[in-house]
Amino acid sequence: MEGFVDVSRILSGSLEGEHVKIRGWLHNKRSSGGIHFLLIRDGTGIIQCTMKKDKADPDEFELVKRLTQESTLELEGIVRRDPRAPDGYEIAVERVKVVHMAEEGFPIAKKYHGPDFLLNNRHLWIRSKKMQTILRIRSKFLEAAREWFRMNEYTEFHAPILITAACEGGSTLFNVKYFDMDAYLTQSWQLYAEAAIASLGKIYTIAPSFRAEKSRTRRHLTEYWHLEVEIPWCDLNCIMKVEEELLTHICHRLAEEMPKELEHFGRSPNDLLKVEPPFERITYDEAVEILRGDGIDFEWGDDLGWIEEKHLTMKYDKPFFITHYPRGVKAFYHKPDPKRPEVTLSVDMMAPEGYGEITGGGQRIDDVNELLERIKEENLDPDDYEWYIDLRRYGSVPHSGFGLGVERTIAWICKLDHIRDAIAFPRLINRVYP
Ligand code: 4AD
Ligand code: MG
Repeated sequence: MEGFVDVSRILSGSLEGEHVKIRGWLHNKRSSGGIHFLLIRDGTGIIQCTMKKDKADPDEFELVKRLTQESTLELEGIVRRDPRAPDGYEIAVERVKVVHMAEEGFPIAKKYHGPDFLLNNRHLWIRSKKMQTILRIRSKFLEAAREWFRMNEYTEFHAPILITAACEGGSTLFNVKYFDMDAYLTQSWQLYAEAAIASLGKIYTIAPSFRAEKSRTRRHLTEYWHLEVEIPWCDLNCIMKVEEELLTHICHRLAEEMPKELEHFGRSPNDLLKVEPPFERITYDEAVEILRGDGIDFEWGDDLGWIEEKHLTMKYDKPFFITHYPRGVKAFYHKPDPKRPEVTLSVDMMAPEGYGEITGGGQRIDDVNELLERIKEENLDPDDYEWYIDLRRYGSVPHSGFGLGVERTIAWICKLDHIRDAIAFPRLINRVYP
């Protein structure tokens, strides 16, 4: 709109000494003597604005005195550099116009609120500095991912959300009534992606996935954003290279473009600049050895759970891979290792510092009989997978893919205690509101 500037432009220093107009929300206010200090938030940043009684219109000065938190206003004045201001610049206010006087009693006060209160008031809590910063990092994260896909000539592909056959096991499927039939919410785009590579070559998606996770944990959402890749003519080694290059690009972009935001969470940009291919690779067998060597009782063939992943990843300060999981703990589509069929050509990427799994994937079965055998072994109904089996009948190729949990990865990058803060409106076992 005519004449208004973004707070971010002022904070970048390019408007020092100039007369500007801004508009936004009253983030916070304090008054001392004849001065009001207003923090104005406009969606691009937060800036301190000072209004002096002796320089202001008396009516406007009185009006500002009564302003409630989160009121919206337009304001004009001169930009000054001031080391005492939170971000180095402030506006010396000349005129103020109130657009909307907010009701008294904005629920989020400047005091400690418990997590349940903040989740109930999530629609307002996303205005906080913490959530604002996470959501901006999240946006940059996805922008960097898309940039990498564009540079490497991937095509974005969209798979259906309403589906009829499980990709990752029946126990976490959400049922949906689909007219007079049963359908489910998708857990992964993968089965459809395997169909689409025969049309488009290498592809990616960034879309929601759903898991009816019955456990309350710090790393499970029931609805999360899934960044997935599928590539023809690609084996296990090839897919690991793609994963490490993609994550490296994202980490470097964040370090370069969001250093202040990262530091807000105690994450040094240097930690992310140190992320470089090749990532360390260990096998499941080696992971079991490490666990046992540290006195943790663990049976070969069991899945690595939260406790084991936490223990292993505390030893690392950069992401790494665990490969060759036993076939018993991986979904039916994972290709058994021809040299050792009790394990699969699978790979999970681990985030360090105790965070654990952030990607899952590997090489897919490309032989029709091997696929039918695994479907039987897992007690699945081949009729449910008829079209998927067809893909091995008409032009099968070796192929691989993976899925990255966006919120899990952001939780690691921002050192969050709980995955729920990596998304604006988290869906958890006991929460679908607001
Ligand atoms: O390991 P998962 O289950 O693998 C798949 O879904 C594959 N079909 C992906 C593929 O190969 N295209 O899930 C992939 C990732 C996990 O590593 C984790 O980061 C994330 O998705 N994830 C969750 N994130 C948040 N909440 C949950 N409940 C999640 N379940 C999986
Ligand atoms: Mg997994």
